[in-house]
Amino acid sequence: MPSVTTASLMQMKQRGEKIAVLTSYDASFTARLEEAGVEVILVGDSLGMVIQGQESTLPVGVEEMIYHTRCVARARRNALLITDMPFMSYSSPRQALATAGRLMKEGRAQMVKLEGGTIQLETVRQLTGNGIPVCAHLGLLPQSVHRLGGYRVQGRDEETARIMREDALALEVAGAQMLVLECVPAVLAGEISRSVSIPVIGIGAGPDCDGQVLVLYDMLDITPGPLPRFNRNFLEHTCSVTAAIATYVKAVKGGTFPAEEHCYQ
Ligand code: KIV
Repeated sequence: MPSVTTASLMQMKQRGEKIAVLTSYDASFTARLEEAGVEVILVGDSLGMVIQGQESTLPVGVEEMIYHTRCVARARRNALLITDMPFMSYSSPRQALATAGRLMKEGRAQMVKLEGGTIQLETVRQLTGNGIPVCAHLGLLPQSVHRLGGYRVQGRDEETARIMREDALALEVAGAQMLVLECVPAVLAGEISRSVSIPVIGIGAGPDCDGQVLVLYDMLDITPGPLPRFNRNFLEHTCSVTAAIATYVKAVKGGTFPAEEHCYQ
């Protein structure tokens, strides 16, 4: 696989070719993701829950994100490497620039991801203006779990759906080069994916997004406790981690994942 860039991902969207994304937090799993042809690797702050055993992503710090990003960067070959900006590390454009600069210089991230719509527009402009590629994140925002009152599907009523549509367009205009939609009704996610020219990556957002992402430990069924409806255990009918990841890539590219039972109305 040739090196994945923001430009090559845009071309995949234009060709209608689905993009396979997974999280990774260390070098060994990253090597398996590369072998399987995953195009984008996300060092998600989900590491707070699946690696550190925290109840949410909120306690994760910048140093921890830098550490895991550097571990992943050592094994990354061709996939695009995105890292999450942790909670309260981007509450002003100035703070966001400092955090993103460290994630790229010390962690060797190639893009940073941040959660939020209108409130993040100035930050997205500042980051992209300084040469830092940004992936936006709308829908269920895990860093806002306490404000949202739980991990719930977002955009089910007309007003919140309208705001999400407008936020997606505004984030693209501000310079975001990718958008993650989490726990969004499939019809709304499809509309948003068609309305923007940047790749839209869904997690619990239906089959009409330009690509899919899952938390690696969830799709390998390692995470303790009940898993969200949008997850599928890809290890179940395979004999190795590598085969499970390859099955995921094939299912995303072939449009068989997510299926109806993984989607929200
Ligand atoms: O932290 C994470 O792993 C994420 C994905 C769920 C998109 O943000």
